[in-house]
Amino acid sequence: MTGPNRIAKRLRPFGTSIFAEMSALSSRHDAVNLGQGFPDFDGPAEVLESAARAVRDGPNQYAPLAGLPILRRAIADWFDRRYGLSVDPDREVTVTSGCTGAIADAMLGLLEPGDEVVLVEPWYDCYPAAVAMAGGRCRYVTPVAPGYRLEAAMLEAVVTPRTRVLVVNSPHNPTGRVLDEAEWDAIEAFCLRHDVILISDEVYETLTFERPHQPAWTRPGLRSRAIIASGVGKSFSLTGWKVGWTVASPALTEAIQAAHQFTIFSVATPLQVGTATALGLPDAYFDDFIADYRTRRDQLVDGLRSVGLEPIVPEGTYFTLVETAPLGIDDDRAFCERLVRELGVAAIPTSSFNAEGRSGPIRFAFCKQREVLAAAIDRLRGVGSLLR
Ligand SMILES: Cc1ncc(COP(=O)(O)O)c(C=O)c1O
Repeated sequence: MTGPNRIAKRLRPFGTSIFAEMSALSSRHDAVNLGQGFPDFDGPAEVLESAARAVRDGPNQYAPLAGLPILRRAIADWFDRRYGLSVDPDREVTVTSGCTGAIADAMLGLLEPGDEVVLVEPWYDCYPAAVAMAGGRCRYVTPVAPGYRLEAAMLEAVVTPRTRVLVVNSPHNPTGRVLDEAEWDAIEAFCLRHDVILISDEVYETLTFERPHQPAWTRPGLRSRAIIASGVGKSFSLTGWKVGWTVASPALTEAIQAAHQFTIFSVATPLQVGTATALGLPDAYFDDFIADYRTRRDQLVDGLRSVGLEPIVPEGTYFTLVETAPLGIDDDRAFCERLVRELGVAAIPTSSFNAEGRSGPIRFAFCKQREVLAAAIDRLRGVGSLLR
């Protein structure tokens, strides 16, 4: 270190994100990067054009705090069209700085110091940091491989009188799980029994291969107590836009906006116009999108099998996991570093996604061009040499 540690104590445990670390290592070794979860191709041309037109012709000034009316309307229409759910665009929608911003605004707007938040391991890395920034405390539940099912008893085991929020993510990064009816039953019952607010991260909502995505609001008991967080990045291959949103009851929306007005206030206006266009794309876009991702998923899963690895076939998201314990690996991070240095392929160790840093499976992303996936598989043919 070159000077005193200026990082606030509450943020020190988080260090640098594993995505930044692995991407840096990957470029130093000129590796094929299947680590970070962003597509290496662009979003739909008409959506890009819509944002470009908005930059050229306006609007280019601050949007209202809650988001541009046309985007809030498009989000409400999206819920109606895809899920048959009625959302009030004026009182139940907030446009945020990505899904990450949605989660941070929700935590900051809801938590009192010392309030407890239940996180499901392996979690997305912004959750515990958002809890810490909001002065809350995390409690963890850990569904186990290979099914990674969330059980009611796990939630009951960590609840205390201070439990205020539960965070779930479906489709789930990194396991690729899509919550089933029994899991939603458990979540709904838990939230009602203990007066807990649910933050439901649904950023991969369009990326399901088996059963369709079910938003938290399809559960009547969760209508007034679930905050749905999502965004444009994953469903439209526009991760750099960082446009997200929350859908929540008017009371919860007030809490989110109480924070949002001072964290971000207002999200890039022309990109909100583009996002409204994206949400209005015809059904054919989504049919092609999922068919395309199914091909990429199969290419990566079959490829990993062909080199002797045993990937999980994900039900959703654009990630697959390879369990490391059966391969005799007890340090997933060291293994990922060797993969980069010795084979030239970057993946993400999931030890970064649990509180104790336990070694776990490694995650490969398939939101990449087919030649890139093929090149990664080619390089992984040497993986046997790392396992001996
Ligand atoms: C589960 C999950 N939630 C949220 C995000 C962040 O979304 P955004 O880029 O819209 O902030 C990601 C990105 O990888 C994610 O995997």
